[in-house]
Amino acid sequence: DKGGHRHFMAKEIAEQPARLTDLLGAYMGKDGVELPAPGIDFAAIERLTMVACGTAFYACLTAKYWFEQIAGLPVEVDVASEFRYREPPIGAGTAALFVSQSGETADTLAALRYCRGKADRILSVVNVAESSIARESDLALPIHAGPEIGVASTKAFSCQLTVLLLLALDAARARGRLDDAAFAARLDELRTLPGLMNQALGIDDAAHAISARLAEARDILFLGRGRMYPLAHEGALKLKEISYIHAEAYASGELKHGPIALIDKSVPVIVMAPRDELFDKSVSNMQEVMARGGKVVLITDAAGADEAGDGVWQVLRLPACPPALAPILYAVPAQLLAYHTALAKGTDVDQPRNLAKSVTVE
Ligand code: M6R
Repeated sequence: DKGGHRHFMAKEIAEQPARLTDLLGAYMGKDGVELPAPGIDFAAIERLTMVACGTAFYACLTAKYWFEQIAGLPVEVDVASEFRYREPPIGAGTAALFVSQSGETADTLAALRYCRGKADRILSVVNVAESSIARESDLALPIHAGPEIGVASTKAFSCQLTVLLLLALDAARARGRLDDAAFAARLDELRTLPGLMNQALGIDDAAHAISARLAEARDILFLGRGRMYPLAHEGALKLKEISYIHAEAYASGELKHGPIALIDKSVPVIVMAPRDELFDKSVSNMQEVMARGGKVVLITDAAGADEAGDGVWQVLRLPACPPALAPILYAVPAQLLAYHTALAKGTDVDQPRNLAKSVTVE
């Protein structure tokens, strides 16, 4: 049932505010984050190793910023197909965390089995509660996204991110990085997320309006800095999967180390830059692109648009939001740009060529 939408993907993008409301209701108790038993003692671990594939991997990369900056917990992130064959040493004091929508991805499951007996705790963040990955974990954390049918992951990504942010906050409190008042303030911020996501969905028309031009491009670049950098990868993956346009993501600061050679007037460059502590740096990278004729799509908030929107090809405006929430909120324009560009190209949005929803072979 597509709920009146043309595609499952459109339905799944649109239902994110509701699914996030469910998720927050399930995890937020009166006194803070309530994890399913047996929970995890973040004060007792020294390091977190996170492993996943595809979109779930980009959720892990985003979470590294949260765990390190907010909780002071060192994090390693790897794609499962590399991790499992590298024989990484997993010492005492390490918790291993696996993220998977389906809970059946072969490489992720094999990586989990590799960590069994080596890591102190095996955690997973899954959508399918009865999946192999959930069953083989010491603690499986559901993302409450409901069934995701579109091959391109959308609501599972925002729900994975939200569970991981809740975990990072829980870790920060356990490790003495957030006192009770600061922790409560962070939870209050999170409670605004469904409403913010709802507002972000309002850029649907703007995304549609530029999609015909994006659909003409052969290559599209995505740039982000700091906690927005992994989302640049997710935006590029989404676009590749369903529109078949070649898309790449770079950390904004890496541009001048090579990729800037790709820029000319035929290359749209999507810059994800809320008005945060790194905004000025992102803007100067964006101006380097514009100076070489690149067609910039700046995704930012009103303050960012006022400050840096002049001369930019297209500005997409999102509501202002607490910095920690930006990677979740800015997932919406990434999804909508991919969706509308694929529609403009006439590709099969829900069943893109060569792809399966669940990758159970390596
Ligand atoms: O079920 P999983 O989360 O383990 O799947 C991982 C990837 O196969 C998946 O995220 C894939 O990259 C999606 N098609 C992305 O849209």
